[in-house]
Amino acid sequence: MRPLLIILGLLISIDAFADAKAGEKKAQLCLLCHKPENVKYGAPLLEAQSTKYLVRATTEYKIGKRSDPIMKSSVANLSSRDIRNIADYIASRPAVTGVFSTDPAKVAVGEKWVVEMKCGSCHGPTFAGTEAVPRLAGQITGYLISQLEAFAADRRAHPPIGTRFDRIGDVEAIAHYLTAMK
Ligand code: HEC
Ligand code: HEC
Repeated sequence: MRPLLIILGLLISIDAFADAKAGEKKAQLCLLCHKPENVKYGAPLLEAQSTKYLVRATTEYKIGKRSDPIMKSSVANLSSRDIRNIADYIASRPAVTGVFSTDPAKVAVGEKWVVEMKCGSCHGPTFAGTEAVPRLAGQITGYLISQLEAFAADRRAHPPIGTRFDRIGDVEAIAHYLTAMK
């Protein structure tokens, strides 16, 4: 019985290793767009998001639940296993923070909104995210603005937060505050 268990254990660990390697290789294509230097293309930073969130978001583009033509074609040929491997690899990468400049006056206004709206109750006190809720700290300002606008226009779903996003008013200030978080 014992040798069999050892062999099984070895097989499982070899498989896990192969997955991480396969994910790393396939993720290089994704990281061509998803990096701070590419800010003008609207691709968000993905590092340190949870595997669960990355798998869900990637799959949503594939099935058209979140619509973006660039992302749809980038993930069209990936299997669920590929998506999982890539997500595992990207989730294990350290967060990229503090690379974008922000306007201190906007950051201060944004902080007031975010505290008042209790955004940290789901996204975490430092906005590092959780398994199911995305990380927002250090994210690209333009991407945050585009998503907040998409929530307000019902182009993307967000859990109800008491007040509607279109009544927040200063979406830009909120985005500056979140980008500035480490
Ligand atoms: C040609 C550029 C490009 C490539 C290549 C690309 N993406 Fe994207 N990705 C984008 C853009 C642009 C968005 C933002 C779309 C939107 O506004 O919804 C995005 C959004 C995402 C999001 C949503 C993140 C969030 O915080 O909700 C995930 C996850 C993602 N991409 C994963 C991937 C993966 C995995 C790959 C590789 C298989 C990949 N992307 C390749 C441009 C790209
Ligand atoms: C009840 C929990 C909850 C609260 C409160 C909350 N969020 Fe979220 N937020 C989520 C979840 C869950 C998602 C992922 C939505 C999805 O993709 O299905 C999300 C997604 C987002 C995104 C998109 C991130 C990305 O990577 O695409 C932004 C931006 C955001 N929230 C900002 C805010 C702001 C600003 C507030 C406060 C006004 C807030 N959230 C309050 C749960 C919450």
